[in-house]
Amino acid sequence: MAERKHLKTGWMDLVWLLFLLGLAVLPPIDEPHKQFTLLAIALLQLFEGKLAERIPRRGWAYVVLLKIFLATLLIDHTGGLSINSSYYPIYYLPVFTAALHFEAIGTLIWTAIASAAYSAYLYPALQEYELTPESLAELSQRILFFFLAAVVINQFATKSRQQTEELAESNRQLEKAQADARRSERLAALGQLSAGLAHEIRNPLGVIKGSSEMLSQKLATADPLSAELAGYISSEVNRLSALVSRFLDFARPLHAEPHPHEITSLMDKALKSVSDQWKGGTVRVTKDYAADLPLALLDENLSEQVFVNLVQNAYEAMGDKGGDLSVSIANARSTGRNGLQVRIADSGPGIPPEIREQIFNPFFTTKKTGVGLGLSIVSKIMDEHQGSIRVEPAPTQGTAFVLYFPVSSSFIESEVTAS
Ligand SMILES: Nc1ncnc2c1ncn2[C@@H]1O[C@H](COP(=O)(O)OP(=O)(O)OP(=O)(O)O)[C@@H](O)[C@H]1O
Ligand SMILES: [Mg+2]
Repeated sequence: MAERKHLKTGWMDLVWLLFLLGLAVLPPIDEPHKQFTLLAIALLQLFEGKLAERIPRRGWAYVVLLKIFLATLLIDHTGGLSINSSYYPIYYLPVFTAALHFEAIGTLIWTAIASAAYSAYLYPALQEYELTPESLAELSQRILFFFLAAVVINQFATKSRQQTEELAESNRQLEKAQADARRSERLAALGQLSAGLAHEIRNPLGVIKGSSEMLSQKLATADPLSAELAGYISSEVNRLSALVSRFLDFARPLHAEPHPHEITSLMDKALKSVSDQWKGGTVRVTKDYAADLPLALLDENLSEQVFVNLVQNAYEAMGDKGGDLSVSIANARSTGRNGLQVRIADSGPGIPPEIREQIFNPFFTTKKTGVGLGLSIVSKIMDEHQGSIRVEPAPTQGTAFVLYFPVSSSFIESEVTAS
Protein backbone atom coordinates (compact mmCIF):
# COMPACT_ATOMS: atom_id res chain seq x y z
CA MET A 1 0.00 0.00 0.00
CA ALA A 2 2.79 2.39 1.07
CA GLU A 3 4.73 1.46 -2.06
CA ARG A 4 1.70 2.22 -4.24
CA LYS A 5 1.25 5.58 -2.59
CA HIS A 6 4.91 6.37 -3.19
CA LEU A 7 4.55 5.39 -6.85
CA LYS A 8 1.51 7.63 -7.20
CA THR A 9 3.25 10.70 -5.73
CA GLY A 10 6.25 9.91 -7.95
CA TRP A 11 4.02 10.13 -11.04
CA MET A 12 2.37 13.32 -9.85
CA ASP A 13 5.79 14.90 -9.25
CA LEU A 14 6.80 14.02 -12.80
CA VAL A 15 3.62 15.61 -14.17
CA TRP A 16 4.39 18.75 -12.16
CA LEU A 17 7.91 18.90 -13.51
CA LEU A 18 6.69 18.45 -17.09
CA PHE A 19 4.14 21.20 -16.59
CA LEU A 20 6.77 23.64 -15.31
CA LEU A 21 9.20 22.56 -18.06
CA GLY A 22 6.49 23.44 -20.56
CA LEU A 23 6.27 26.93 -19.05
CA ALA A 24 10.09 27.24 -19.14
CA VAL A 25 10.31 26.59 -22.92
CA LEU A 26 7.55 29.07 -23.69
CA PRO A 27 8.53 32.68 -24.28
CA PRO A 28 10.25 34.57 -22.82
CA ILE A 29 12.95 31.86 -22.92
CA ASP A 30 16.06 33.97 -22.50
CA GLU A 31 14.86 35.56 -19.27
CA PRO A 32 17.02 33.97 -16.52
CA HIS A 33 14.86 35.40 -13.69
CA LYS A 34 11.80 33.64 -15.08
CA GLN A 35 13.67 30.32 -15.36
CA PHE A 36 15.09 30.61 -11.82
CA THR A 37 11.67 31.43 -10.44
CA LEU A 38 10.13 28.46 -12.25
CA LEU A 39 12.87 26.23 -10.85
CA ALA A 40 12.16 27.54 -7.33
CA ILE A 41 8.44 26.89 -7.84
CA ALA A 42 9.21 23.34 -9.05
CA LEU A 43 11.42 22.65 -6.02
CA LEU A 44 8.85 24.09 -3.62
CA GLN A 45 6.13 22.01 -5.24
CA LEU A 46 8.22 18.86 -4.83
CA PHE A 47 9.25 19.44 -1.24
CA GLU A 48 6.30 21.41 0.19
CA GLY A 49 5.12 18.47 2.32
CA LYS A 50 8.51 18.06 3.98
CA LEU A 51 8.84 21.83 4.48
CA ALA A 52 5.40 22.12 6.08
CA GLU A 53 6.17 19.18 8.37
CA ARG A 54 9.40 20.79 9.58
CA ILE A 55 7.66 23.93 10.79
CA PRO A 56 5.08 22.88 13.34
CA ARG A 57 1.61 24.50 13.15
CA ARG A 58 2.45 27.32 10.71
CA GLY A 59 4.14 25.10 8.07
CA TRP A 60 1.45 25.42 5.37
CA ALA A 61 1.09 29.17 5.99
CA TYR A 62 4.79 29.59 5.10
CA VAL A 63 4.42 27.38 2.02
CA VAL A 64 1.46 29.44 0.75
CA LEU A 65 3.28 32.70 1.48
CA LEU A 66 6.37 31.50 -0.36
CA LYS A 67 4.25 30.48 -3.34
CA ILE A 68 2.56 33.90 -3.47
CA PHE A 69 6.02 35.49 -3.38
CA LEU A 70 7.35 33.28 -6.22
CA ALA A 71 4.18 33.81 -8.31
CA THR A 72 4.59 37.57 -7.90
CA LEU A 73 8.26 37.30 -8.97
CA LEU A 74 7.31 35.27 -12.04
CA ILE A 75 4.70 37.82 -13.09
CA ASP A 76 7.35 40.51 -12.75
CA HIS A 77 9.60 38.79 -15.28
CA THR A 78 7.10 37.55 -17.86
CA GLY A 79 5.52 40.64 -19.32
CA GLY A 80 6.36 44.15 -20.40
CA LEU A 81 3.64 45.31 -18.11
CA SER A 82 3.52 42.80 -15.24
CA ILE A 83 -0.24 43.21 -14.69
CA ASN A 84 -0.76 42.05 -18.30
CA SER A 85 1.46 38.94 -17.93
CA SER A 86 -0.20 35.86 -19.39
CA TYR A 87 1.42 33.89 -16.52
CA TYR A 88 -1.08 35.31 -13.99
CA PRO A 89 -2.77 31.83 -13.51
CA ILE A 90 0.40 30.89 -11.57
CA TYR A 91 -1.46 32.45 -8.60
CA TYR A 92 -3.75 29.42 -8.69
CA LEU A 93 -0.87 27.50 -7.10
CA PRO A 94 -0.92 29.31 -3.72
CA VAL A 95 -4.73 29.57 -3.91
CA PHE A 96 -5.12 25.78 -4.36
CA THR A 97 -2.56 25.00 -1.67
CA ALA A 98 -4.44 27.23 0.78
CA ALA A 99 -7.79 25.68 -0.21
CA LEU A 100 -6.40 22.19 0.40
CA HIS A 101 -4.85 22.89 3.78
CA PHE A 102 -6.95 25.63 5.43
CA GLU A 103 -10.56 26.02 6.53
CA ALA A 104 -12.95 28.21 4.50
CA ILE A 105 -12.01 31.51 6.22
CA GLY A 106 -8.27 30.82 5.95
CA THR A 107 -8.69 29.97 2.26
CA LEU A 108 -10.54 33.23 1.57
CA ILE A 109 -7.91 35.26 3.43
CA TRP A 110 -5.04 33.63 1.52
CA THR A 111 -6.88 34.14 -1.79
CA ALA A 112 -7.36 37.80 -0.90
CA ILE A 113 -3.61 38.12 -0.15
CA ALA A 114 -2.71 36.46 -3.49
CA SER A 115 -5.18 38.78 -5.30
CA ALA A 116 -3.71 41.80 -3.51
CA ALA A 117 -0.18 40.74 -4.52
CA TYR A 118 -1.29 40.46 -8.16
CA SER A 119 -3.26 43.76 -8.06
CA ALA A 120 -0.19 45.53 -6.65
CA TYR A 121 1.16 45.59 -10.23
CA LEU A 122 -1.64 47.99 -11.03
CA TYR A 123 0.35 50.74 -9.32
CA PRO A 124 3.39 50.83 -11.69
CA ALA A 125 1.02 50.40 -14.68
CA LEU A 126 -1.03 53.41 -13.63
CA GLN A 127 2.14 55.55 -13.62
CA GLU A 128 2.31 55.13 -17.41
CA TYR A 129 -1.25 54.34 -18.58
CA GLU A 130 -4.85 55.20 -17.83
CA LEU A 131 -7.06 52.46 -16.35
CA THR A 132 -9.81 51.77 -18.88
CA PRO A 133 -13.12 50.22 -17.76
CA GLU A 134 -12.34 47.16 -19.93
CA SER A 135 -8.98 46.52 -18.19
CA LEU A 136 -10.62 47.00 -14.79
CA ALA A 137 -13.31 44.44 -15.73
CA GLU A 138 -10.62 42.01 -16.98
CA LEU A 139 -8.63 42.32 -13.72
CA SER A 140 -11.79 41.85 -11.62
CA GLN A 141 -12.72 38.74 -13.62
CA ARG A 142 -9.29 37.20 -13.06
CA ILE A 143 -9.50 37.86 -9.33
CA LEU A 144 -13.08 36.55 -9.11
CA PHE A 145 -11.93 33.33 -10.76
CA PHE A 146 -9.21 32.99 -8.11
CA PHE A 147 -11.95 33.07 -5.45
CA LEU A 148 -14.24 30.76 -7.38
CA ALA A 149 -11.53 28.13 -7.76
CA ALA A 150 -10.54 28.54 -4.08
CA VAL A 151 -14.10 27.92 -2.88
CA VAL A 152 -14.65 24.87 -5.09
CA ILE A 153 -11.35 23.23 -4.12
CA ASN A 154 -11.89 24.05 -0.46
CA GLN A 155 -15.35 22.46 -0.46
CA PHE A 156 -13.97 19.35 -2.08
CA ALA A 157 -11.03 19.19 0.33
CA THR A 158 -13.27 19.68 3.38
CA LYS A 159 -15.57 16.89 2.24
CA SER A 160 -12.69 14.55 1.63
CA ARG A 161 -11.15 15.46 5.03
CA GLN A 162 -14.48 14.65 6.71
CA GLN A 163 -14.69 11.35 4.89
CA THR A 164 -11.13 10.48 5.90
CA GLU A 165 -11.90 11.30 9.52
CA GLU A 166 -15.08 9.21 9.42
CA LEU A 167 -13.16 6.35 7.87
CA ALA A 168 -10.43 6.62 10.50
CA GLU A 169 -13.10 6.66 13.23
CA SER A 170 -14.83 3.54 11.88
CA ASN A 171 -11.43 1.88 11.54
CA ARG A 172 -10.72 2.66 15.19
CA GLN A 173 -14.11 1.24 16.19
CA LEU A 174 -13.53 -1.87 14.10
CA GLU A 175 -10.14 -2.42 15.72
CA LYS A 176 -11.70 -1.96 19.15
CA ALA A 177 -14.50 -4.40 18.33
CA GLN A 178 -11.94 -6.94 17.09
CA ALA A 179 -9.88 -6.50 20.25
CA ASP A 180 -13.06 -6.89 22.37
CA ALA A 181 -14.02 -10.03 20.46
CA ARG A 182 -10.53 -11.50 20.98
CA ARG A 183 -10.76 -10.62 24.68
CA SER A 184 -14.18 -12.24 25.07
CA GLU A 185 -12.95 -15.35 23.27
CA ARG A 186 -10.05 -15.59 25.70
CA LEU A 187 -12.37 -14.95 28.65
CA ALA A 188 -14.85 -17.55 27.40
CA ALA A 189 -12.07 -20.12 27.14
CA LEU A 190 -10.84 -19.18 30.60
CA GLY A 191 -14.41 -19.35 31.91
CA GLN A 192 -14.90 -22.86 30.51
CA LEU A 193 -11.62 -24.00 31.96
CA SER A 194 -12.33 -22.63 35.42
CA ALA A 195 -15.91 -23.90 35.37
CA GLY A 196 -14.53 -27.39 34.66
CA LEU A 197 -12.03 -26.98 37.46
CA ALA A 198 -14.69 -25.73 39.88
CA HIS A 199 -16.88 -28.70 39.01
CA GLU A 200 -14.06 -31.12 39.73
CA ILE A 201 -13.27 -29.40 43.03
CA ARG A 202 -16.85 -29.84 44.24
CA ASN A 203 -16.72 -33.64 44.64
CA PRO A 204 -13.58 -33.88 46.82
CA LEU A 205 -14.94 -30.94 48.83
CA GLY A 206 -18.06 -32.97 49.60
CA VAL A 207 -15.94 -35.87 50.83
CA ILE A 208 -13.76 -33.58 53.00
CA LYS A 209 -16.88 -31.94 54.43
CA GLY A 210 -18.54 -35.27 55.29
CA SER A 211 -15.34 -36.64 56.83
CA SER A 212 -14.67 -33.55 58.91
CA GLU A 213 -18.23 -33.57 60.25
CA MET A 214 -17.90 -37.23 61.26
CA LEU A 215 -14.52 -36.48 62.83
CA SER A 216 -15.84 -33.60 64.90
CA GLN A 217 -18.78 -35.75 66.09
CA LYS A 218 -16.46 -38.63 67.08
CA LEU A 219 -13.93 -36.40 68.79
CA ALA A 220 -16.49 -34.14 70.43
CA THR A 221 -16.11 -35.66 73.85
CA ALA A 222 -12.75 -37.45 73.63
CA ASP A 223 -10.49 -34.70 72.30
CA PRO A 224 -11.99 -31.19 72.34
CA LEU A 225 -9.01 -29.54 70.58
CA SER A 226 -9.09 -31.94 67.62
CA ALA A 227 -12.88 -31.56 67.51
CA GLU A 228 -12.45 -27.79 67.28
CA LEU A 229 -9.91 -28.17 64.47
CA ALA A 230 -12.21 -30.55 62.62
CA GLY A 231 -14.95 -27.91 63.07
CA TYR A 232 -12.71 -25.32 61.36
CA ILE A 233 -12.16 -27.69 58.46
CA SER A 234 -15.88 -28.18 58.14
CA SER A 235 -16.77 -24.45 58.22
CA GLU A 236 -14.03 -23.49 55.77
CA VAL A 237 -15.08 -26.27 53.43
CA ASN A 238 -18.63 -24.89 53.64
CA ARG A 239 -17.33 -21.51 52.59
CA LEU A 240 -15.34 -22.99 49.73
CA SER A 241 -18.21 -25.05 48.43
CA ALA A 242 -20.54 -22.00 48.58
CA LEU A 243 -17.97 -20.13 46.51
CA VAL A 244 -17.67 -22.95 43.99
CA SER A 245 -21.47 -23.22 43.66
CA ARG A 246 -21.72 -19.46 43.12
CA PHE A 247 -19.05 -19.59 40.49
CA LEU A 248 -20.77 -22.46 38.74
CA ASP A 249 -24.08 -20.54 38.83
CA PHE A 250 -22.30 -17.74 37.05
CA ALA A 251 -20.38 -19.83 34.53
CA ARG A 252 -23.15 -22.28 33.64
CA PRO A 253 -25.14 -21.28 30.57
CA LEU A 254 -28.62 -20.32 31.73
CA HIS A 255 -31.71 -21.78 30.17
CA ALA A 256 -34.58 -19.80 31.58
CA GLU A 257 -37.96 -21.37 31.01
CA PRO A 258 -40.34 -18.52 31.72
CA HIS A 259 -43.95 -19.39 32.52
CA PRO A 260 -46.73 -17.10 33.71
CA HIS A 261 -46.18 -16.96 37.45
CA GLU A 262 -47.28 -14.98 40.46
CA ILE A 263 -44.33 -12.77 41.27
CA THR A 264 -45.33 -11.80 44.82
CA SER A 265 -45.13 -15.35 46.18
CA LEU A 266 -41.57 -15.68 44.84
CA MET A 267 -40.59 -12.41 46.44
CA ASP A 268 -42.09 -13.48 49.78
CA LYS A 269 -40.15 -16.74 49.62
CA ALA A 270 -36.90 -14.87 48.93
CA LEU A 271 -37.52 -12.37 51.73
CA LYS A 272 -38.19 -15.19 54.17
CA SER A 273 -35.15 -17.25 53.19
CA VAL A 274 -32.77 -14.29 53.60
CA SER A 275 -34.26 -13.08 56.87
CA ASP A 276 -34.22 -16.62 58.35
CA GLN A 277 -30.46 -16.83 57.86
CA TRP A 278 -29.68 -13.23 58.76
CA LYS A 279 -27.47 -12.74 61.81
CA GLY A 280 -27.01 -8.95 61.68
CA GLY A 281 -29.08 -5.98 62.94
CA THR A 282 -32.88 -5.76 62.86
CA VAL A 283 -34.35 -5.09 59.44
CA ARG A 284 -37.90 -3.71 59.11
CA VAL A 285 -39.42 -4.95 55.88
CA THR A 286 -42.24 -2.97 54.19
CA LYS A 287 -44.07 -4.57 51.29
CA ASP A 288 -46.15 -2.64 48.80
CA TYR A 289 -47.67 -4.96 46.19
CA ALA A 290 -50.22 -3.48 43.76
CA ALA A 291 -53.61 -5.21 43.99
CA ASP A 292 -54.26 -6.05 40.36
CA LEU A 293 -50.92 -7.59 39.40
CA PRO A 294 -51.00 -9.83 36.32
CA LEU A 295 -48.87 -12.97 36.10
CA ALA A 296 -45.28 -12.29 35.04
CA LEU A 297 -43.26 -14.40 32.64
CA LEU A 298 -40.77 -15.96 35.01
CA ASP A 299 -38.50 -18.90 35.48
CA GLU A 300 -39.36 -19.72 39.07
CA ASN A 301 -35.94 -20.81 40.33
CA LEU A 302 -33.94 -18.18 38.50
CA SER A 303 -36.11 -15.24 39.51
CA GLU A 304 -36.11 -16.39 43.11
CA GLN A 305 -32.30 -16.36 42.82
CA VAL A 306 -32.52 -12.75 41.58
CA PHE A 307 -34.63 -11.66 44.54
CA VAL A 308 -32.48 -13.56 47.05
CA ASN A 309 -29.30 -11.92 45.72
CA LEU A 310 -30.74 -8.41 45.82
CA VAL A 311 -32.37 -8.82 49.23
CA GLN A 312 -29.17 -10.41 50.57
CA ASN A 313 -27.14 -7.44 49.27
CA ALA A 314 -29.60 -5.04 50.92
CA TYR A 315 -29.33 -6.85 54.26
CA GLU A 316 -25.53 -6.93 54.00
CA ALA A 317 -25.44 -3.21 53.15
CA MET A 318 -27.42 -2.37 56.30
CA GLY A 319 -25.20 -4.77 58.28
CA ASP A 320 -25.15 -4.82 62.08
CA LYS A 321 -27.00 -1.51 62.33
CA GLY A 322 -30.04 -2.92 60.56
CA GLY A 323 -32.50 -0.58 58.84
CA ASP A 324 -35.47 -0.43 56.52
CA LEU A 325 -36.07 -2.54 53.46
CA SER A 326 -38.98 -1.65 51.24
CA VAL A 327 -40.13 -3.87 48.43
CA SER A 328 -42.72 -2.70 45.94
CA ILE A 329 -44.19 -4.40 42.89
CA ALA A 330 -46.35 -2.49 40.42
CA ASN A 331 -47.55 -2.52 36.81
CA ALA A 332 -45.18 -0.83 34.36
CA ARG A 333 -44.52 -0.32 30.68
CA SER A 334 -41.09 -0.48 29.08
CA THR A 335 -40.28 -0.10 25.38
CA GLY A 336 -43.94 -0.45 24.53
CA ARG A 337 -44.42 -3.72 26.43
CA ASN A 338 -46.50 -4.34 29.50
CA GLY A 339 -44.62 -5.61 32.48
CA LEU A 340 -44.00 -5.50 36.18
CA GLN A 341 -41.64 -3.25 38.04
CA VAL A 342 -40.00 -4.56 41.18
CA ARG A 343 -38.24 -2.09 43.44
CA ILE A 344 -36.01 -3.19 46.30
CA ALA A 345 -34.81 -0.24 48.35
CA ASP A 346 -32.67 -0.31 51.47
CA SER A 347 -31.58 2.33 53.95
CA GLY A 348 -27.91 1.31 53.86
CA PRO A 349 -24.96 3.56 53.04
CA GLY A 350 -25.70 3.58 49.28
CA ILE A 351 -23.34 2.89 46.39
CA PRO A 352 -20.66 5.54 45.76
CA PRO A 353 -21.10 6.99 42.21
CA GLU A 354 -17.53 6.05 41.23
CA ILE A 355 -18.23 2.31 41.59
CA ARG A 356 -21.82 2.34 40.28
CA GLU A 357 -20.61 1.38 36.79
CA GLN A 358 -18.68 -1.60 38.09
CA ILE A 359 -21.04 -3.38 40.45
CA PHE A 360 -22.44 -5.60 37.69
CA ASN A 361 -18.96 -6.75 36.64
CA PRO A 362 -18.04 -10.30 37.65
CA PHE A 363 -15.81 -10.51 40.72
CA PHE A 364 -16.33 -6.88 41.68
CA THR A 365 -16.87 -6.75 45.42
CA THR A 366 -16.26 -4.36 48.29
CA LYS A 367 -16.97 -7.00 50.91
CA LYS A 368 -14.32 -8.92 52.83
CA THR A 369 -15.93 -12.28 52.23
CA GLY A 370 -17.81 -11.39 49.03
CA VAL A 371 -17.22 -13.13 45.73
CA GLY A 372 -18.63 -10.35 43.59
CA LEU A 373 -20.78 -12.60 41.45
CA GLY A 374 -24.25 -11.84 42.89
CA LEU A 375 -25.15 -8.92 40.63
CA SER A 376 -23.55 -10.42 37.51
CA ILE A 377 -25.69 -13.51 37.98
CA VAL A 378 -28.72 -11.26 38.53
CA SER A 379 -28.13 -9.27 35.34
CA LYS A 380 -27.54 -12.46 33.35
CA ILE A 381 -30.85 -13.87 34.60
CA MET A 382 -32.65 -10.61 33.81
CA ASP A 383 -31.27 -10.73 30.25
CA GLU A 384 -32.60 -14.28 29.93
CA HIS A 385 -36.04 -12.95 30.94
CA GLN A 386 -35.79 -10.09 28.42
CA GLY A 387 -36.15 -7.85 31.42
CA SER A 388 -33.88 -5.16 32.77
CA ILE A 389 -32.20 -4.00 35.94
CA ARG A 390 -30.95 -0.62 37.01
CA VAL A 391 -29.68 0.91 40.19
CA GLU A 392 -30.63 4.28 41.56
CA PRO A 393 -29.91 6.12 44.78
CA ALA A 394 -32.89 5.79 47.13
CA PRO A 395 -34.71 9.15 47.77
CA THR A 396 -33.27 9.82 51.22
CA GLN A 397 -30.39 7.42 51.63
CA GLY A 398 -29.40 3.91 50.62
CA THR A 399 -29.84 2.13 47.34
CA ALA A 400 -32.72 0.97 45.18
CA PHE A 401 -32.56 -1.74 42.54
CA VAL A 402 -35.33 -1.50 39.97
CA LEU A 403 -36.21 -4.57 37.92
CA TYR A 404 -38.54 -4.94 34.97
CA PHE A 405 -40.15 -8.25 34.03
CA PRO A 406 -42.31 -8.63 30.93
CA VAL A 407 -45.85 -9.88 31.47
CA SER A 408 -47.35 -12.80 29.61
CA SER A 409 -49.12 -11.12 26.67
CA SER A 410 -51.51 -14.05 26.15
CA PHE A 411 -52.53 -13.62 29.75
CA ILE A 412 -53.34 -9.93 29.26
CA GLU A 413 -55.34 -10.73 26.16
CA SER A 414 -57.32 -13.49 27.88
CA GLU A 415 -57.97 -11.22 30.84
CA VAL A 416 -59.20 -8.42 28.56
CA THR A 417 -61.50 -10.86 26.76
CA ALA A 418 -62.85 -12.18 30.04
CA SER A 419 -63.71 -8.74 31.44
N1 LIG B 1 -27.83 -2.67 48.29
C1 LIG B 1 -26.54 -2.32 48.17
N2 LIG B 1 -26.06 -1.28 48.89
C2 LIG B 1 -24.76 -0.92 48.77
N3 LIG B 1 -23.85 -1.53 47.96
C3 LIG B 1 -24.29 -2.57 47.23
C4 LIG B 1 -25.65 -3.03 47.29
N4 LIG B 1 -25.77 -4.05 46.43
C5 LIG B 1 -24.55 -4.25 45.87
N5 LIG B 1 -23.66 -3.38 46.35
C6 LIG B 1 -22.24 -3.26 45.97
O1 LIG B 1 -22.03 -4.01 44.80
C7 LIG B 1 -20.97 -4.94 44.99
C8 LIG B 1 -21.24 -6.17 44.15
O2 LIG B 1 -22.36 -6.87 44.60
P1 LIG B 1 -22.51 -8.42 44.28
O3 LIG B 1 -23.78 -8.91 44.85
O4 LIG B 1 -22.27 -8.61 42.82
O5 LIG B 1 -21.26 -9.05 45.00
P2 LIG B 1 -21.05 -9.25 46.56
O6 LIG B 1 -22.35 -9.06 47.28
O7 LIG B 1 -19.91 -8.39 46.98
O8 LIG B 1 -20.59 -10.77 46.62
P3 LIG B 1 -21.53 -12.04 46.34
O9 LIG B 1 -20.98 -12.71 45.13
O10 LIG B 1 -21.39 -12.85 47.55
O11 LIG B 1 -22.92 -11.56 46.12
C9 LIG B 1 -20.99 -5.20 46.46
O12 LIG B 1 -19.72 -5.66 46.91
C10 LIG B 1 -21.33 -3.83 47.03
O13 LIG B 1 -20.18 -3.00 47.08
MG1 LIG C 1 -24.12 -10.03 46.69
